[in-house]
Amino acid sequence: MKEHIIPHDYQISREDRHKKNSHNSFLMWFTGLSGSGKSTIANVVEQKLFQKGIKTYTLDGDNIRKGINNDLTFAPEDRTENIRRIAEISNLMIDAGVVTLAAFVSPYKKDRENIKNIVNDDNFVEIYINTSVEECERRDVKGLYKKARAGEIKNMTGISAPYEVPENPAIEIKTEEVTVEDAANTIIEYILPKLKIESNE
Ligand code: ADX
Repeated sequence: MKEHIIPHDYQISREDRHKKNSHNSFLMWFTGLSGSGKSTIANVVEQKLFQKGIKTYTLDGDNIRKGINNDLTFAPEDRTENIRRIAEISNLMIDAGVVTLAAFVSPYKKDRENIKNIVNDDNFVEIYINTSVEECERRDVKGLYKKARAGEIKNMTGISAPYEVPENPAIEIKTEEVTVEDAANTIIEYILPKLKIESNE
C-alpha cells in the first residue's frame, strides 16, 4: 500500500510559518522517571515562552495516554509505539511552526534515538530531568510507587522496569539541587539562540 502514497506538495512551507511567527520551531523532549518533575518544569518553561509571544504546545504522557494512545500499555513494545507516535505528532507540530514540549518517561535509549530520526537531529533538544528514584518515591505525587511496591502496578519504571539514563543530553536538570524556576531559566537560556527570534520593528 505504502508505495501508492504520494505526498502532496503544499505551498506554505515551514519557513513561511517561521517568518510569520518570527521564530523557529523545534522539539524539547523531557525524559525522566515518573514524578521526576518533567511536567512541572515543562509547564514553567512553556509559560515563559508564551510570555515572549512564542507559539508553543505541550504534549504530556498522562494526557496523551488518555486520548490518542489509550490503546497502549507500559510493556516495552507499547512504550516504543507510544514514543514513536508522539514523535510523529511532534513532527507535525514542528512543521506547523509550533515550539513543542514533550514530557514522557521514555525510558529506552533506542526509542529516544528514534525520535531524532523522525524529527531530525537539529529539531531535537533532549532534556534529562534527573531525580533519583528514592526522591521520586518519597514524593510519590500520584501514589504509583506505593502501588508498584505492593505489586498492584507492573512494569513501573525505576521499580520493576528499567530507566536507561541519557548519555549525552543537551541539558541535565538535577531537581534535588535546583529550584523549578532556576531549571526553567537554564532551559530557556539554552534554547534562546535556537528560537531565532526576529524582531518586527
Ligand atoms: S512512557 O514510558 O511510555 O514514556 P509515559 O510518559 O507515556 O510513559 O507515561 C508515564 C505516566 O504514566 C507516568 O507519569 C505515570 O503517571 C503513569 N504510569 C502508570 N503506570 C506506569 C508504569 N508502569 N511505569 C511508568 N509510568 C506509569
